[in-house]
Amino acid sequence: MSEYLINGGSELNGSIKISGAKNAALKLMAASLLTSEEVTLENVPLIEDVYTMAEALRSLGATVQIGKNKLTISAKELTNCTAPYDLVSKMRASILVMGPLLARLGQSKTAMPGGCKIGLRKIDIHIKGLEALGAEISLEHGYIDAKAKKLRGAQFHLDFPSVGATENILMASVLAKGTSTIKNVAREPELVDLANFLNSLGANIKGAGTSELVVRGVKRLGGGRYRVMADRIEAGTFMVAGALCAKKLELTDFDPQNLPMTLEKLKETGTKLEVKTDSVIIRRNHSANPCNIVTLPHPGFATDLQGPFMVLLSLAKGQSIITENVFEGRFLLADELKKMGADIKTSGHHAVMDGVEALSAADVEAPDLRGGASLVLAGLTAKGETHVSSIEHIDRGYEELEQKLVSVGAQIVRKPSDKLLSPQENTQIVTTKQKGLQQVVE
Ligand code: EPZ
Repeated sequence: MSEYLINGGSELNGSIKISGAKNAALKLMAASLLTSEEVTLENVPLIEDVYTMAEALRSLGATVQIGKNKLTISAKELTNCTAPYDLVSKMRASILVMGPLLARLGQSKTAMPGGCKIGLRKIDIHIKGLEALGAEISLEHGYIDAKAKKLRGAQFHLDFPSVGATENILMASVLAKGTSTIKNVAREPELVDLANFLNSLGANIKGAGTSELVVRGVKRLGGGRYRVMADRIEAGTFMVAGALCAKKLELTDFDPQNLPMTLEKLKETGTKLEVKTDSVIIRRNHSANPCNIVTLPHPGFATDLQGPFMVLLSLAKGQSIITENVFEGRFLLADELKKMGADIKTSGHHAVMDGVEALSAADVEAPDLRGGASLVLAGLTAKGETHVSSIEHIDRGYEELEQKLVSVGAQIVRKPSDKLLSPQENTQIVTTKQKGLQQVVE
């Protein structure tokens, strides 16, 4: 396991360009299975999860060429309809091939994702939605077996506006016969990006960004070229870095309107913000005001930014409360922050933070992707050298995190794993690296 060594206390100053959105790119990749024609995706972040999704698409028979932030995907002939356990357990988003495979081949077999560190993460809504479209689904030997001679448009109301379930049901309904009306759907910007992408290939989807989608099924989709939206969660993470320790930090190439509650809450803490059409300038407020956060589906406060705010509010002058409503197990970060001197009490869905003057450097472990990035932010503020281990979690979702932060003045070094590897593990790493190099064709 590699780790970051962070020498805290540096002032950030400069500009960072925001990468393409992980949570949009992965869905667009899965959606590319819906067409037999070639699709080119631009502004794709080159992160581990994208490589894993590329592996999943290839295992189904698609070809995926990876260039510099660009993917060319051809699913002309799909030869397999199974997403195996090793892929799904590595990355839960692989279950998003279920809807497209069902629509395109009339069957899909996907390993059950099970729980994960941030909570139970059920898939009942995905299943109910696909059943409403006419799929027959059985759960056998740890696999979700879905079959449908022909999917038919239907009316369906989601129990909860799950992002993944909305996406799976939407992708399946695009090629269904007739019209589907899907209610109480997710309104996340990444879902809008998916709908825009599908429409650019010839789908007929209306209502993306509202709580009701109307999808008129079409016979086939064509190919095309599409630019993935910018990553609002990466932008939000860096905004908090700015609020913690920037003289002046400019974040460019993203739409701040996709983070309405983040901007509101940063203002509440007293962070100085200049919001423009496609960029934000942040200057820290030396002692942040406390504030309360309640995570909710979009346009509520994003659960993915709860961790960075836990760091910021741990240093506020007073008490703040975070209420986590989306994932039940997303407070693992609190125990790591406590090692750095934070005063946090968690109980069920609530975390109470009594702000402390400063955090101190410590050895901490990234509990998950967003928790890992939050610990990097904590390390930037803490005096001394913080070691963040298990940074593979961070590599899954942030493109060049340390290079971007170093370019604006942070002191971060990546220390590769010093664990002695068995000859077999060593060979696997070399093979993965070679694969990565071959993948970057530009
Ligand atoms: C997506 O996960 C994102 N992942 C998550 O980002 C993000 O935190 C989440 O949406 C919420 O915004 C990707 O886009 C790849 P959900 P997803 O289905 O789709 C319950 C990150 O760090 N639920 O909206 O899995 C579920 O248990 C990741 O980038 C059901 O009960 O989220 C959870 O409590 C982490 N039944 C809640 O809904 C279902 O069938 C939200 O899940 C489906 C979900």
